[in-house]
Amino acid sequence: MQQDSETLNLEQALRILRRRVPLIVLCVVVVAGAAYGYSKHQTKKYTATASLAFSTNSLSQQIAGLPSGGSSASSVLAQQASNVELVRLGDMAAKTASQLGGGLTADKVAGSLSIAGEGESSVVGVSATATSPPLAAAIANTYTRLFVKEQQSTNKQYFKSALALVHKQLGELSPKQRIGVDGVELQNRAQTLGLLAELNYGNVQIAEEAPPPTSPSSPMTSRNAMLGGLLGLLIGLGLAFVLERLDGRIKGPEHLEEIYHLPMLGVVPDSAALSRSGHDRGKWTPLPATEAEAFNLIRAHLRFFNVDRDLRTVVIASAAPGEGKTTIACQLAKAAARLGAHVLLLEADLRQPTLANQLGLQPGPGLAEVLVGALPMNEATRAVEVDTSPPNAGGKRTLDVLGAGGVLPPNPAELLDSHAMDSLLAQAKSSYDLVVIDTPPLTAVSDAFPLLTKVDGVVLVGWVGRSRRDAAERLHQVVASSGAPLLGVIANGSKAGAPSVYSAAADAQTPLAGPSANGASPPNELIPTAKV
Ligand SMILES: Nc1ncnc2c1ncn2[C@@H]1O[C@H](COP(=O)(O)OP(=O)(O)O)[C@@H](O)[C@H]1O
Ligand SMILES: [Mg+2]
Repeated sequence: MQQDSETLNLEQALRILRRRVPLIVLCVVVVAGAAYGYSKHQTKKYTATASLAFSTNSLSQQIAGLPSGGSSASSVLAQQASNVELVRLGDMAAKTASQLGGGLTADKVAGSLSIAGEGESSVVGVSATATSPPLAAAIANTYTRLFVKEQQSTNKQYFKSALALVHKQLGELSPKQRIGVDGVELQNRAQTLGLLAELNYGNVQIAEEAPPPTSPSSPMTSRNAMLGGLLGLLIGLGLAFVLERLDGRIKGPEHLEEIYHLPMLGVVPDSAALSRSGHDRGKWTPLPATEAEAFNLIRAHLRFFNVDRDLRTVVIASAAPGEGKTTIACQLAKAAARLGAHVLLLEADLRQPTLANQLGLQPGPGLAEVLVGALPMNEATRAVEVDTSPPNAGGKRTLDVLGAGGVLPPNPAELLDSHAMDSLLAQAKSSYDLVVIDTPPLTAVSDAFPLLTKVDGVVLVGWVGRSRRDAAERLHQVVASSGAPLLGVIANGSKAGAPSVYSAAADAQTPLAGPSANGASPPNELIPTAKV
């Protein structure tokens, strides 16, 4: 169960993302492009690195007669840290600036440098970053050279003072002592110190000079563009979900299925012919093959999905007005009647009836009058002729229509929930193969709710790209717990149209006209070819 809902959520997320692919791609391209363009316009900087190798200070310590330090890992690290500090300290930056000239200052040199130990070795790297490769190399090399020189002169000073001390000690010895063990040792030390003072011995030397860098260290154009692309992707994904939340319309047929958790019974295309059928009272034009076939398929699906059920009374309902309930109820009833079924089209919208207009019927008594007992049902019912294929095969086929009525009642909800309505439904059920019931919008008025549980099946309609998702979600919450026999959803107004394998064959058919039962202009529609 848990897994089911998680799978559904993942599927929903994937659908949302699929719908928003162009937006996501746009975000990636724009942000990556902006990062690339910004990086391209940045001043290029180059980094050159020279390395200094420090020797252990044991030699000078031994000469000075001090014990040399250990070489454990921690002492190596401590030594390296003190070496890095040593390179950083002092006035080397000022000396480098004055030696290189060209407007360089001590602060600029110090700011361009990065000094760090290399791993756990005794090597310290001196990196200089500048706007030209030669300048970067010159700063790194001059700095390290000056540092080594200074270390040497410091050491020389140290050896010289040590030598003076040894000479002083020697001078204090008697001639006999001088040729003794201590005297000889002091003389040896004096010799070594003299040699070291001459040798320019330093405990640091240049391990590697900095070559002028061949590529800039910043800006990293391609890396920045890649990071920009990644950021764009995150922004795009975020925007996709935010827009999905903000945009409250039902996007496509699958969205309708998701909201109602019901199977798709059919997709009705947004069609000029269907639009006309709702407006031009009495002026019937042939319904194109694709539209006619969409209704045949809906009827077929209703049958296929309910093979083991006696599906006689079907309510066509939706959340809001204008979603196509009346149009679909009318066309579905016609589709069934054309194929020989005895069909009643019942208009239960007692507030804003439009069926008479759609079918080109003259105003007259209807459901309202029957429910208050003014008229029996069969007297208020009118037969409307539907076209058949082939022409007049098996006689004229008609559809019985019980409109809302001539005088609209003040209490439609009460009437639809009455015993009279129950017995009307029972009578219709026993007399007809199929009763299609058109209803008022469920989230606008509650009139039709009692009907939902009194019929064999309920079909919910939504207009893709127009119907509000929140209204559909509210309706779903109510109907899901009402015990109504929900059959499925119909997506009306699809821009993509209903996919059809029959249209080509159906297009070849000739539209038929026939006289109407009530004398109004006759319905003149294409004959469906897909018999179900
Ligand atoms: N698939 C469609 N393509 C074009 N127009 C349509 C379609 N379905 C319905 N219409 C039009 O939309 C309007 C509202 O339809 P209607 O069936 O009266 O909705 P409802 O009964 O839900 O209020 C009518 O003018 C009708 O002609
Ligand atoms: Mg209607």
